[in-house]
Amino acid sequence: MGLLKAAGVVYKPVEELDLGPDSNELYVEANIKAPRMSGFLAKMVAWILESMMFGTLALYILKRVNRIHKFISNATLGEPPMFVPSHPFVDLNEQQVIEIHPDASPAEKVQQAMDCLPLTLESSPDTSKHSCFRRWTIADYSRAYRSGEITPLKVAERFIDAVRESSRRPLPMFFFINYDAEDILRQATESTFRYERGAPISVLDGIPIAVKDEIDCYPYPTTVLVLIGGTKWLHKVRPCTGDACCVARLRSCGAILVGKTNMHELGVTPSGTNPHYGAPRNPYDPSKISGGSSSGSAAIVSAGLCPAALGVDGGGSVRMPASLSGVIGFKPTFGRIPHSGVLPLNWTVGMVGILAGTLEDAFIVYAAISGQLPSDESTTLPPKVHFPLLNSTNSISNIKLARYGAWFNDCNEEVRLCCSEALQLLCERYSWKGVIQKTVEVTIPEIEVMRSAHYVTISCECNTSLSSYLEKYRSELGWDARVVVDIYGAFDSNEYIKAQKLRYRHMQIHNKIFTKADVIVTPTTGMTAYPISKAALKTGELDYVNGARILQYQIAGNFLGLPAVTVPVGYDKAGLPIGLQFIGKPWSEPTLMHIAFAMQITENQRFSMIYLIRSETSEDTRILGFNMAYLSPDGIALSN
Ligand SMILES: *[C@@H]1O[C@H](CO)[C@@H](O)[C@H](O)[C@H]1NC(C)=O
Ligand SMILES: *[C@@H]1O[C@H](CO)[C@@H](O)[C@H](O)[C@H]1NC(C)=O
Ligand SMILES: *[C@@H]1O[C@H](CO)[C@@H](O)[C@H](O)[C@H]1NC(C)=O
Ligand SMILES: *[C@@H]1O[C@H](CO)[C@@H](O)[C@H](O)[C@H]1NC(C)=O
Repeated sequence: MGLLKAAGVVYKPVEELDLGPDSNELYVEANIKAPRMSGFLAKMVAWILESMMFGTLALYILKRVNRIHKFISNATLGEPPMFVPSHPFVDLNEQQVIEIHPDASPAEKVQQAMDCLPLTLESSPDTSKHSCFRRWTIADYSRAYRSGEITPLKVAERFIDAVRESSRRPLPMFFFINYDAEDILRQATESTFRYERGAPISVLDGIPIAVKDEIDCYPYPTTVLVLIGGTKWLHKVRPCTGDACCVARLRSCGAILVGKTNMHELGVTPSGTNPHYGAPRNPYDPSKISGGSSSGSAAIVSAGLCPAALGVDGGGSVRMPASLSGVIGFKPTFGRIPHSGVLPLNWTVGMVGILAGTLEDAFIVYAAISGQLPSDESTTLPPKVHFPLLNSTNSISNIKLARYGAWFNDCNEEVRLCCSEALQLLCERYSWKGVIQKTVEVTIPEIEVMRSAHYVTISCECNTSLSSYLEKYRSELGWDARVVVDIYGAFDSNEYIKAQKLRYRHMQIHNKIFTKADVIVTPTTGMTAYPISKAALKTGELDYVNGARILQYQIAGNFLGLPAVTVPVGYDKAGLPIGLQFIGKPWSEPTLMHIAFAMQITENQRFSMIYLIRSETSEDTRILGFNMAYLSPDGIALSN
């Protein structure tokens, strides 16, 4: 094992790196050395890690075999550290955007977003195309509310029925850690009154929106069942006193906040399985994970119960579950959405993101929650908010997509084929008005190093934020989270600072890539959703190997604070969704939304298990109320 020798890498200056397609910088695959563990094994590992005698040695070995010593601890590099990935605002002069006034209220911004969309509220969706699978969108609800076809109260009642039904199924869905029927009905009644008076606040009025458990949302923490962050105990030490900023903004637009969705305990792995509150199942196949850590938010949107939900993305935690569950996942630039009221688990990599059935709906929710708080403003220029004119018939031209072949292709065969085809389709179908859409081949060196440096960073931040509680509450963690938390404590200040130097280095590397192209394109995950094991349900599960496969394209979004979006682009042979990811320059959300909008494939979508909130009087008699339109593998609805 070469226990005693781990010479560190000597990193050469970024200027000397060749980022072109024929660079001799080698692509290094993830090579995680850790067993898939649950149950007894997880307990034993936790015991070893926590033991005075073996703990230090075990951590040393883990760090050694996982190349932490080589890439980080013993590395030599000249860069200064970059502790927070905040980006000075640069006006990118993007095409087909409008500038939004910084003082606009959330409801005004939502209206401005609506004005940028091609479909107006007056036009109804093409009902002749109902064979095409479609979840209800924000515009669908709003139209039905305005016409009186259905009321927010009726939707809320059906919503509650559906959630109850979903937890009685042979394979229960476990969407929520906590939801309160009475509170939902109260909000829905108020919204219904507003529609009756002809005075809805915005298009979000009466729209059910779910919130990941780690984001504060009143009144949940004041009830007996208060639970935050997917743990059994955190509420005891961190009472929630009100809405997080993003939740308050949604509420001010009239949205119905329907509860706190399930997540992996403390967000520690991408499986999203929670030993205390169950595994949110994948609506495309309930025997599979929905992906984590925002697992409940992804599952509930995919199942058609909410057009959008909030998540938090500290290491892909919004984009991964969105991709595995076949929905849009959108993570804006670091600092774009205020973090206040979000559990501060890892504050320089984690931030609020949006999961939604369509790009349009992600955009509307983004419009409501984006924009700095006055208290966030530093001496630098506050970032301007631009919205993409998705209604424009002139597409944006001359956008260049960077693709790093060795990285792009380092995934399962079916994911690779599907993503390559989708990319080709994008280039062909949307030649950005005559200007030939270009994909530029590049080399992004040291991606595995960046993943390790991110891991060290998130570990140190979590260890610090939890440290005052852990002594007392360690034993209340699930075994999976407990092992992770033990490993989180393994890194010292040398490693932390080196990781921040690597952050600076990677920012330089990415800045150089962004001089060659506007957007980096990758698959979102290296594989599709994997099965939930029995043991995982009981004790939680750690699967670092599959975890790395799911995580491998995520890190730049978090470590470097870059905006990124995942769009569902197809399915594997088993019918499980595959996502394509676009990573943009800081503050380039409008360009990302333009591309994602163009990429959004509306034909041939497969059915997931879905609850459709439709009125009984709907023209569409095939799917009524909450009847389950359950999928068969070839996408035929089995309901009715
Ligand atoms: C690398 O770092 C580890 C831990 O800091 C140390 O034990 C080891 O001796 C170092 N190896 C070399 C070759 O410097
Ligand atoms: C698109 O929306 C903007 C903003 O509402 C509006 O000014 C513009 O006229 C619209 N363009 C088209 C082609 O509808
Ligand atoms: C980091 O924290 C965010 C919330 O701030 C959470 O969503 C994410 O899962 C955390 N990631 C890890 C790896 O702990
Ligand atoms: C991690 O947190 C523990 C408290 O749980 C603390 O004793 C330890 O020093 C921390 N480790 C580091 C490296 O900061």
